[in-house]
Amino acid sequence: ARPSWRRATGVVIVGSGAAGLSAAVHLAAAGVPAVLLTRAGITDGATDWAQGGLAAVWDETDSAAAHAHDTVVAGAGLCEPRAVHELVTGAPAAIRRLVRLGARFDRDDTGAYDLHLEGGHHARRILHAGGDASGHEVERALAGALRNAAGTPGSSVEVLEHLRAVDVLTDPAGRARGVRVRQDDGTIGDWLAGAVVLASGGIGQVWPLTTNPAVATGDGIAMAYRAGAVVRDMEFTQFHPTVLWIDPSRRVPGDRGVLVSEAVRGEGAVIVDHSGRHVMEGLHPLADLAPRDVVSAAMQAHMVGTGEEHLFLDATGFGEATWRQRFPSILAMCRERGIDPVTDPIPVRPGAHYLCGGVAADLDGRTAVPGLYAVGEVAATGVQGANRLASNSLTEGLVAGDRVGALLATAWRSGTLNPPPARPAGTGHHDLRPSTASLVDPVHRDRLRAIMDRGVEVSRTAEALDDALTALNALPTLTPPADDILDDDILDMTNLHTVATLIATAALTRTESRGCHRRADHPEASEDWRHHLCLTLGPDGAP
Ligand code: SIN
Repeated sequence: ARPSWRRATGVVIVGSGAAGLSAAVHLAAAGVPAVLLTRAGITDGATDWAQGGLAAVWDETDSAAAHAHDTVVAGAGLCEPRAVHELVTGAPAAIRRLVRLGARFDRDDTGAYDLHLEGGHHARRILHAGGDASGHEVERALAGALRNAAGTPGSSVEVLEHLRAVDVLTDPAGRARGVRVRQDDGTIGDWLAGAVVLASGGIGQVWPLTTNPAVATGDGIAMAYRAGAVVRDMEFTQFHPTVLWIDPSRRVPGDRGVLVSEAVRGEGAVIVDHSGRHVMEGLHPLADLAPRDVVSAAMQAHMVGTGEEHLFLDATGFGEATWRQRFPSILAMCRERGIDPVTDPIPVRPGAHYLCGGVAADLDGRTAVPGLYAVGEVAATGVQGANRLASNSLTEGLVAGDRVGALLATAWRSGTLNPPPARPAGTGHHDLRPSTASLVDPVHRDRLRAIMDRGVEVSRTAEALDDALTALNALPTLTPPADDILDDDILDMTNLHTVATLIATAALTRTESRGCHRRADHPEASEDWRHHLCLTLGPDGAP
């Protein structure tokens, strides 16, 4: 599709969650010209849905070393020590910045922050808001700050909602010089920039049951991959153990997946089967609060063994008052779907939650493509390793978003961040190119999800992964691609297909079990595999 307009700025940020907004708030304060693009409304991403909270050392009985230790243990040998150190030492300052912007976290009776405990943490260090609406508070504070800044006359930052990034534009030297975008009315334009920051979140929509919103179609990873970036550790897909299961006869088409936060288990809820047996008993010293890959795998094995389609999370011991005070959103979402957790165990099963891999980047967002940065879930910085520790993700988004903002503000001040001049569309810039992709027919979206559900699940085998890859490769492309067919469904499907192929390829290649990548045919971790798995676009269009 051809662009019908062209504009230029210093920095283009793609995505409006914790990472993108933090970067934009920093650039606005520094007076750097920037636009933040988001494909839906500003608060329609995963940050707004996050329940658990933000991990940070906040208590004198806790320490950065202890937070780092828990992060590295969960990461199962693939964390980058420097990135982890930068995260845990930067986390308290990131939270204080957020509080200065107006975020309010829950406090206890003494007025101190009330700290939750979650799986894999050996200290209470999860700040939370509104009981279980922590992400909403983060989003409210950051989006509010950015809207105020963007609405101020002379502001350097513009926020553009309902504008979807389609591809990264690169120059002949391979440097990122902007993004091609699609407006809701279908028209195409180019935003040229000195730097492009991808902060577009995750990929949960490749599976049928996910805690992620509709926009989590892997756009940033697919765009970066097409532009020549290194994509790393895509096999480390985290399945959250407790996603609400709804009887098929009562499912509303298009309904969101409902997460039942790990903090509910932190308060004492337990996973039980249909006969009331405690599933995690004797399986791990932390039982229901074992790292989530352990819990999800134990649940899946139990369900395979018994033929049950789901298990239950029993939190009936809490009573109505605790439910209302601590987990009001989960209570409401369950009740809206006909389940009352005060009186009945909640039907749950594991669902796709978080991608630990992504575009290889450092914690400042630098990728292998000059001028292209990645922060938040889209990035693989080495903070999450082979398995993310609970509630480290919002924290990473805040820390990395602020760091890329600081880096680019310095670059702007030193004059090294100039966009190419925005000549009118149709003149010049023939040297700036979006990458090419085979578009995949969106009528097969449910089929893609079924392939992933069957072949690339919590516990994987070579045979199932091979079948999944064959089936993914067989999904029909759209030929010939015409200018007027670049609609949202096609973009979703094309990016989902790219990401699904990367995940299945990586999962097949890594012949061991580590972190949240579990191979039933290779059940142990192997020292030979104690390294990252990097994929780049090959000349034949395959990884
Ligand atoms: C949860 O609330 O259980 C999710 C927290 C997280 O994924 O970090």
